Amino acid sequence: MKALKDRFGRTHNYLRISVTDRCNLRCVYCMPEEGVAFTEASHLLTYDQIAEVVEVGASLGITKLRITGGEPLVRPDLHTLIARLSGIPGIEDIALTTNGVFLAKQAQALKDAGLTRVNISLDTLDPSRFAFIARRAELRRVLEGIEAAAVAGFHPIKLNCVLLKNVNEDEIAEFLRMAYEKPLHVRFIEYMPIGHADDNWRNHYLPLSRVLDIANERYVIARREDVKGNGPSEDWEIEGGVGSFGLIHPISDHFCKSCNRLRLTADGGLKPCLYWMDELNVKGALGDTAAMREIFAKAMDIKPENHEMAAKLADTALSHVPTERRMSQIGG
Ligand code: GTP
Ligand code: 5AD
Ligand code: SF4
Repeated sequence: MKALKDRFGRTHNYLRISVTDRCNLRCVYCMPEEGVAFTEASHLLTYDQIAEVVEVGASLGITKLRITGGEPLVRPDLHTLIARLSGIPGIEDIALTTNGVFLAKQAQALKDAGLTRVNISLDTLDPSRFAFIARRAELRRVLEGIEAAAVAGFHPIKLNCVLLKNVNEDEIAEFLRMAYEKPLHVRFIEYMPIGHADDNWRNHYLPLSRVLDIANERYVIARREDVKGNGPSEDWEIEGGVGSFGLIHPISDHFCKSCNRLRLTADGGLKPCLYWMDELNVKGALGDTAAMREIFAKAMDIKPENHEMAAKLADTALSHVPTERRMSQIGG
């Protein structure tokens, strides 16, 4: 097998690597208040093992990596993993998705180690609302983290804003203003039912058409194709603005036709799709390149055509079994 091509002709060049399922926050759309049964440290892939998986992936065409969690910056010495991964032949882009709380302290070391980009979660600009959504009062440190990322020279800096009906939808205009005034790329994201499809999701899911309505009322906007990224975001520029914004709408308009990614969980599960239960554990193939290549090939064989979150919303039957992992156990 040369390239990572699935049954639907999609080529995979992007691996999202979750380095921990732990997090210092408890965002309502991601993890239950009481947390989940966290993976014991001895069951996490070590940095050496992650590098081994990436070496095999790179030999099959993976060129882009994203480090996720839980919160990746709670794993000690993350910069040493970045340094290791950036030395692997074929790896061109190593990005990080973080909640930003510990970023101010680590931004420069991560940049020096070869991290190319950061995406930072920010769902609200109001401190008490932040404490409600993230169940921890940490807004100030996140804003400091965003500043520090800019000082360290990361560009673009993307902000991930999960929109929740009746919680933060009244801040869409404020986030658009931020994108207009500051050199930031603000992405609005639809709330996905990963590992749960409970009343919270049904009550707070908001289709992103609302964002375009508000943007069109206030600005002249146009699609742009030049924002550096490997994911599903549909990007827009604002005439006269410094920054830009993006829409990630997996439910109202899914983007699975162009899916280019695999995921590796912190405990070694290679997941062909965020939504479904199927995964293949890489641990049994460590130390055996042929067996590891076989696991990547199998992931291509079993990758489904698309997720079915819209069917879930409509309460119609699904074709496979959805994952029971929460978002924090996959990394988004
Ligand atoms: P860029 O390379 O900067 O475009 O990053 P990205 O958008 O791929 O990564 P990020 O971790 O910032 O994810 C932003 C949002 O997109 C999160 O809510 C992810 O869960 C979601 N997302 C990323 N990939 C997929 C995917 O394959 N399917 C679905 N349904 N959602 C995805
Ligand atoms: N739906 C959509 N996005 C989510 N994220 C976490 N949980 C969800 C969810 N249920 C986002 C986080 C982070 C990224 C990894 O995924 O906000 O930015
Ligand atoms: Fe933690 Fe990120 Fe999940 Fe929030 S979204 S609980 S910050 S992993």
